[in-house]
Amino acid sequence: MKLRSPHLLGIEFLEPEEITAILDAAETFAEISTREIKKVPTLRGKTVVNFFVEPSTRTRSSFELAEKRLSADSLNFSTSTSSLVKGETLLDTARNLEAMAPDFIVIRHSEPGAPHFLARHCRSSVINAGDGAHEHPTQALLDAFTMRRRGRRFPGLRVAIVGDILHSRVARSNVLLLTRMGADVTVCGPPTLLPRGIERLGCRATHRMEEAIEGADVVMMLRVQLERMRAGFFPTLREYARLFGLDGARLRLAAPDALVMHPGPINRGVEIMGDVADGAASVILEQVTNGVAVRMAVLYLLAGGAERETAA
Ligand code: CP
Repeated sequence: MKLRSPHLLGIEFLEPEEITAILDAAETFAEISTREIKKVPTLRGKTVVNFFVEPSTRTRSSFELAEKRLSADSLNFSTSTSSLVKGETLLDTARNLEAMAPDFIVIRHSEPGAPHFLARHCRSSVINAGDGAHEHPTQALLDAFTMRRRGRRFPGLRVAIVGDILHSRVARSNVLLLTRMGADVTVCGPPTLLPRGIERLGCRATHRMEEAIEGADVVMMLRVQLERMRAGFFPTLREYARLFGLDGARLRLAAPDALVMHPGPINRGVEIMGDVADGAASVILEQVTNGVAVRMAVLYLLAGGAERETAA
């Protein structure tokens, strides 16, 4: 299957069958990462620019590994080592990168819509690796892939997403993806960190953590994004942890086989206690592992999928 758009800008532009196609392709690519030689020639001759204007550990590393495992050539580009620090604009930067004929630009940027702007002005295929508080589509895809690999099916799946919903592109992309696939999603956080009208995305909203996680099949915890907070959104981190932190007692309210997820990085002792993050229900590191396969699948399908060549 080929994706309808040459870009992956957000879950909002994906049909359920495109989401399923990405998750199916990721199954094939997950196997490659278990081989002794973790490399296939699928994207040989293709060039990918990883353009990260915001910090990243997981997304950036897993895109780079995905590209290398597909035999693409990667160019890593960050703000501190570029002429962005001299005041060059995003558009001029992108035009100059594009003059070197990359096939893909993977962009993370603090401004919502920056990937869409690039897609309008560049011939390369643009992949959104997180734009402000807007979307983080490959994170939602890897989260869905992790649930599916753990045997969960989306129709009727009860998912609680708890934390700083207001600043979270992960929350928005997950709500869009999971509701589109038939899951029953509840978002939860303090009133100051729950965007008004979020229910319009198809989820429920509550300020009571116990209500959100009672009977949940998946409990997805989100980081408190202190770097995006100029005002005081809650009295203290200790108070936040008391009301919205996931500890063992709260987790027992969820379904007995509930999965605990977190996109990382974790604030241990704030939104999630260390013993829960490292406990038997946690699939947090599986999410990271699965990120490579999902990003391989996205690159493969955007490049034309089976129309180019088979993955094996
Ligand atoms: N989940 C995620 O986006 O992590 P990074 O910010 O480290 O890429």
